[in-house]
Amino acid sequence: MSHPSPTDPAYRPPALAPDAAVPDAAAPEADPPFGPDLSIGSGTTTPYEDYVQARVLTHLQQPLSDDPGEMVFLVTTQVMELWFTVIVHEWQTAAEALRRDDLTVAMDALRRSTYELEALNAAWKPLARLTPAQFNSYRAALGEGSGFQSAMYRRLEFLLGEKSASMLVPHRGADQEHAELEKALQEPSVYDEVLRLLARRGHAVPSAVLRRDPALRYEPDPAVEAVWAEIFAGPQESELVRLGELLTDVAELVWRWRNDHLVATRRAMGAKMGTGGSAGVAWLEKRARKNVFPELWTARSHV
Ligand code: HEM
Repeated sequence: MSHPSPTDPAYRPPALAPDAAVPDAAAPEADPPFGPDLSIGSGTTTPYEDYVQARVLTHLQQPLSDDPGEMVFLVTTQVMELWFTVIVHEWQTAAEALRRDDLTVAMDALRRSTYELEALNAAWKPLARLTPAQFNSYRAALGEGSGFQSAMYRRLEFLLGEKSASMLVPHRGADQEHAELEKALQEPSVYDEVLRLLARRGHAVPSAVLRRDPALRYEPDPAVEAVWAEIFAGPQESELVRLGELLTDVAELVWRWRNDHLVATRRAMGAKMGTGGSAGVAWLEKRARKNVFPELWTARSHV
């Protein structure tokens, strides 16, 4: 008698005989033929859990209202905080590498950050079309909480050279964040390190720019603009042209985040005041007008 093969539509798996031993899915096989050995060393957890800490991560969502739409607002904010953390890590790596003239490591980190910025910006999707009524359903529960108080976003801005001691004020009551921000305020930004590298490579970056107080906001300088114009007009395969373009990608993607935030805010709350106490959209418009790495944009008019 012929038996249908398991690929045949008529195939039915053989029923277990009543006295056949039923495999116990929970019991580990004595000698698993494939795969990692999960039986050692991890107690009540798994190696995945040990590494990812998914249990911690997936229990950090505590909505403050009963509105079903608050969950995605909270998670989107948390996801963005995680991306800010990764991007800060990349830019710190880049700044340290630039300091030791390691352009390969610096550019690898900056390039990774452009992909991460794209993922960060894509995370606007679920919030981009909130209606005022939807946002109102949980807005009151946020109290005076605002992204303006995000310490990681502020570190990200400081690494771009957008320094401001007054941005530490909201963190006065939070020792750890305040100390980290104070340190980040005093450290040279990625752009400071880029300009120092350009000077070491013989470009005429003014000494006042090289010796500037890194705790102050970077102000554009015509001589730096001339340096970038010269680099951009030079051989296109040079690594400094590639560095300049990579920094421009970063600047463009940060500007896109600010604009997407601005438009989402305008849709969700019109011209109302922000929960953080600012004028809301009018304040965000001013912030979104700022150019990151200013001379990388203005130099283009002179190439
Ligand atoms: C559609 C929902 C959102 C609205 C209506 C909104 C609204 C606002 C407003 C009005 C401000 C100005 C400060 C204030 O007065 O509060 C602000 C600042 C800010 N928000 Fe949002 N926001 C939204 C979503 C988010 C999300 C998901 C994040 C992610 C972390 C975020 C991060 C920030 C940051 C970092 C600032 C400070 C910007 C700066 O210093 O230039 N916002 N937001």
